Amino acid sequence: MSIILRRNLQASTLVKQFLYRTSSSTTGESKTIPKNLLEDNQTASLQKENGAVFDKRPFKLHLDKDKTYSWCLCGKSKSQPLCDGTHKNTFLKIKLRPIRFKVEKSGDYWLCNCKQTTHRPFCDGTHKQPEIQSAVK
Ligand code: FES
Repeated sequence: MSIILRRNLQASTLVKQFLYRTSSSTTGESKTIPKNLLEDNQTASLQKENGAVFDKRPFKLHLDKDKTYSWCLCGKSKSQPLCDGTHKNTFLKIKLRPIRFKVEKSGDYWLCNCKQTTHRPFCDGTHKQPEIQSAVK
């Protein structure tokens, strides 16, 4: 990702606090962005770089509260938004690692598919930036 795009994304993140809309958005109800229960335990969460933009919109997935998931950060998985192990292919020279995560309660969650969210693995609205919308046709 270019430095200019990264700076624009960081600036926009600082300026606004995005509201996270879940499947209940049809009712107009909004919720805050969910928390990854493993965020403080998994060092992969500390990776500064973002992966390649895979899609310009999030993907809704039903998640079980007792299960641990791996969210694809590199953007190369064929099982988006989750990791399929593609990053292990040494020929691709991918340094990014998946983000392991758990949710507080079972339900439908919007997972980031643009790989630029600052609330990994959850969509925080960053995909609405023009740079991301134009990155994928
Ligand atoms: S898809 Fe919404 S922030 Fe990435």
